[in-house]
Amino acid sequence: MNGVRRVGILTGGGDAPGLNAVIRAVVKSAANHGIEVIGLEDAFDGLLVPGRSRLLTPHDVRGILRIGGTILGTTNRGDPFAYPVDHTIQDCSAQCIETFHSLGLDALIVIGGDGTLAIAAKFFEKGIPVVAVPKTIDNDLVGTTSTFGFDTAVSFATDAIDRLHTTAQSHHRVMVVEVMGRYAGWIALTAGVAGGADVILMPEIPFDLKRTADKLAERERLGAPFSIVVVAEGAKAKGGKTALVEGARNGHAERLGGAGARVAAALEKLTGKEARVVILGHLQRGGAPSSADRILASRFGGKAIEFVRNRQYGMMVAARPPDIVPVPFQEVVGKTKLVPLDGDLMQTARALGISFGD
Ligand code: F6P
Repeated sequence: MNGVRRVGILTGGGDAPGLNAVIRAVVKSAANHGIEVIGLEDAFDGLLVPGRSRLLTPHDVRGILRIGGTILGTTNRGDPFAYPVDHTIQDCSAQCIETFHSLGLDALIVIGGDGTLAIAAKFFEKGIPVVAVPKTIDNDLVGTTSTFGFDTAVSFATDAIDRLHTTAQSHHRVMVVEVMGRYAGWIALTAGVAGGADVILMPEIPFDLKRTADKLAERERLGAPFSIVVVAEGAKAKGGKTALVEGARNGHAERLGGAGARVAAALEKLTGKEARVVILGHLQRGGAPSSADRILASRFGGKAIEFVRNRQYGMMVAARPPDIVPVPFQEVVGKTKLVPLDGDLMQTARALGISFGD
C-alpha cells in the first residue's frame, strides 16, 4: 500500500460517449488496490455543494460501460475559480479544497476537456494531487493522439453522411452536413473522408465559396449531379467570421450555429441547385460509446489509477500509441490541437479529390 486510500472522481465540460467507461475502469482498478473511489456529482459542484458525493463500488459501476452521459449527476462547465454567487462572480476554490480534505481524499481524478483541464491545473498549483483524463468529441486536445468520444462522433457522422448520400443522389441535391468542431476540423475531416464527402469545410482552412461551387459544377459536368458538403460548425469563409450564436459566458462555452445554413444558401445561389442542410449537433455526443472509445476510455481509467498509485500528479493520461503516457498539465492547458494541413489524412483527402474550398 503506498498510502493512497481514497480518490475523488468527477466529470467536467460537455459530455462525451465513454465518460462512464472511464469511471468504471477507475473504480474497478482502484478496488484491485484497496483504494476507495468517491464520485463527485455535477462536475466541480461536487466539491462545492455539500452532499453531492457518494462512494462508488464495483457494484455501482456494473453495466455502465455501454451507457452514454455520466452517472455523476450532470457534467457542466462551472468554474469554482469564477463561480456565480448572488449575481457576483467569486473564487470558491478554497471551499473545494476544504471539501476535498473533509472527504478524506488523497487524490482527485478529473475527466474533461480544455476548460476542465485548466481548472484541474489551478487546483494542482494549489496543492491538490490531480490526474486528468482527456475527453472531447472534437479531438482537439494537445498531448494525446486521441480523446475518447471522438471515434463515436465520427462513426455517427459517417453513418449520417452515408444516409444522406442516397437521398442526395435520388433528388440530385446538394446535402450540407454540419458537424461539431469549434476550433478544429477533426470530425469534419475524418467523417468526411470515411463517408466519401465531396467538399469538407473546416476551421483550419478559411474557404472560398466560389471554389466550393466550382467543385460542385465540376461534379455535375462529370455526371454526378449531387454532392455532399461537410461543414464544421467553426468553419468560416475567407475574410469572414464564424457563425456565432452567443459568446462565451460564465460556465458556458461560446455557442456556434448556422455555418451549414450559410454555406447551403450561398451554394444554392451560386450553383442554382437545391441545397439542404442537416445539423448533426448533439446527436454526435449522445448514446453509447463505440468499441474503440470503450477501449480507450478503459485504458485511460486504468492508467489514471496507476498514475495516482505512482504519485504522478499534475499529469494527463495521454494516448501515444501503442502506449498511454503522462503529459504535464502545462503542456496541454490553453492549447488547441488543430488538424495538420500537411498530415497524411489531409494528403489522402486531397488525393481523393475532396475540395476544402481553398
Ligand atoms: O467541445 C465539444 C463540443 O461538442 C463542441 O464541438 C461544441 O461546439 C460544443 O461542445 C457544444 O457545447 P454545448 O453543448 O455546451 O453547447
